Amino acid sequence: MLRTIISEERIRKRIDELGRIISADYKDKDLVAICVLKGASVFFADLVRCINGNVTMDFLSASRFGAGTQASGNINILKDIFTDIRGKDVLIVEDITATGYTLMNLKDILLERGANSVATAVFLDKPSGRATDFVPDYRCFEIPESFVVGYGLDYKDKYRNLPYVAQLSEDCRN
Ligand code: IMP
Ligand code: MG
Repeated sequence: MLRTIISEERIRKRIDELGRIISADYKDKDLVAICVLKGASVFFADLVRCINGNVTMDFLSASRFGAGTQASGNINILKDIFTDIRGKDVLIVEDITATGYTLMNLKDILLERGANSVATAVFLDKPSGRATDFVPDYRCFEIPESFVVGYGLDYKDKYRNLPYVAQLSEDCRN
């Protein structure tokens, strides 16, 4: 069963707000916005349109290896960005942070490549799942422990196209 927890209307308002905050923080800077595929694609498309100023876009895809196990801190980049980010101000845009491993690792990788700064923007933050001390710089909503889908987030690659965020009950996950 799907139960809506964040409506389209709330999403729209919050992204508008966040876009204004990011625009102010990066005033007079050139920003490289990086979308973490596939989950962040919907959020990314809406967020970049709420940011004023010079923004370039790039896309990457990453997976945690051994996801689901304890020792699953490392990530694989399955599809990399094309942009040379040396000296650039980078904003990684992700659908949700739970353990924090994905964004913590991505941030380190991009800093090692010589970015001037690397910040993170998440659509959802699920702090109950944290296994690291990772804290996102920007987040739209904090959610309690639950499994959610929609607005880019999936269960077995489905439900990404829902325009709202919904909780997916246990009996629908098999
Ligand atoms: P982590 O912060 O490294 O644990 O990674 C978070 C990743 O786990 C996200 O990018 C999602 O792919 C996935 N994830 C965590 N919680 C959920 C959820 O409730 N629904 C869908 N995907 C989730
Ligand atoms: Mg993801």
